[in-house]
Amino acid sequence: MQPIIVKSMKVFTTNQSLHPCLASLKTPASSLGFVPTMGALHQGHLSLIKRAIKENETVVVSIFVNPTQFNNAGDLETYPRDLKQDLKKIESIGSLGEIIVYAPSEAAVYGNSVTKEAFDFGGLELQMEGKFRPGHFQGVGTVVQKLLDIVGPNQAYFGEKDFQQLQIIKKLVKMTKANVKIVACSIEREPSGLAMSSRNIRLTTGERSHASKIYEALKMTKDKFSDTPLDEITQWVADQFEKDAIINLEYFEISEQLTLQPANKIEPQKKYRAFISAYIRNIRLIDN
Ligand code: PAF
Repeated sequence: MQPIIVKSMKVFTTNQSLHPCLASLKTPASSLGFVPTMGALHQGHLSLIKRAIKENETVVVSIFVNPTQFNNAGDLETYPRDLKQDLKKIESIGSLGEIIVYAPSEAAVYGNSVTKEAFDFGGLELQMEGKFRPGHFQGVGTVVQKLLDIVGPNQAYFGEKDFQQLQIIKKLVKMTKANVKIVACSIEREPSGLAMSSRNIRLTTGERSHASKIYEALKMTKDKFSDTPLDEITQWVADQFEKDAIINLEYFEISEQLTLQPANKIEPQKKYRAFISAYIRNIRLIDN
C-alpha cells in the first residue's frame, strides 16, 4: 500500500473561522466528507477518516462531546477528552487532501440553549439503546442535525458499531431531507475481537481481553442462527453471562435489521442482526 502523505491539517473551534475555510475549498466538482466524533479517537475512528479521505477532496472531522446524548451525568463527566492526543492521531494518518478538524465549544453548536429536540424516528429510537438510555437518540439526532447544518458535507461517515445510531441517522436525513449521503463503515476490532471503542481505554488489560467474550457470544449466535430456535439462542447467551463474574449483560437482542424490531420468527427475505450491551464495572460496552 502506498503511504499517505500529510498535506495539511487545520483546526477550528468556531463556526466563524470554519465557514470561510470551507467556502474557499468547496467547488461544485469537489466532495466534502464529514466524520463526526466525540474524540478519544481510536483505530475505528481513524478507519472512518481514512475512508473519507479516499472518497473526498476535503474531510472535516468534528470532535465534540455532546452533552445532550448522555443520560448519565457520571458518564459525561468521565468521558475521555484529550484534544492534543486526538490531533496527533489524525496527523499520523497523513492525507493527500485537506483535513479540517472542527472542535467547537458547546456555545458554537448549541448557542445558549443546550436542549434536545423531540424527534420521532418511527420507533427506531424505542428499541435497545433507547430503552436503556432514555433520550439518548434525541440528543444524537439533535447534534447530528446541527453538525450537518454547520459543516454541509456531501457524505458523512458512521461506524456500524453503533448500528442503531446509524439507522436513526439515516432516518433523520430522510425526515429532514438533508442533502447528504450517509456512509456506513464496518466495525473495527482489536485482535481479540473486542469492538474498538473510546471506552476500552478505561478497561484494565485483563478486563480488555475478557471483554472479547461479547464478540464470542455474537459469533456463536451467528453460527446457531440458522438451526436453533431464537429463544434457545437467547437463553444460551444469558447463561454465558450469568456465570461470568466480570461482565454483566444488560441486553441481548436479535432484531430485524431495518426496523430494529425484536425478531419473533425468521422471515427468509429479511435480514437480522444480534445486539449486545454489557457492563464491566461501570463501563458500558456495545457490539453487534
Ligand atoms: O458516535 C458518536 O461518536 C456520536 O454519537 C456522534 C455521532 C459523534 C454524535 O455526537
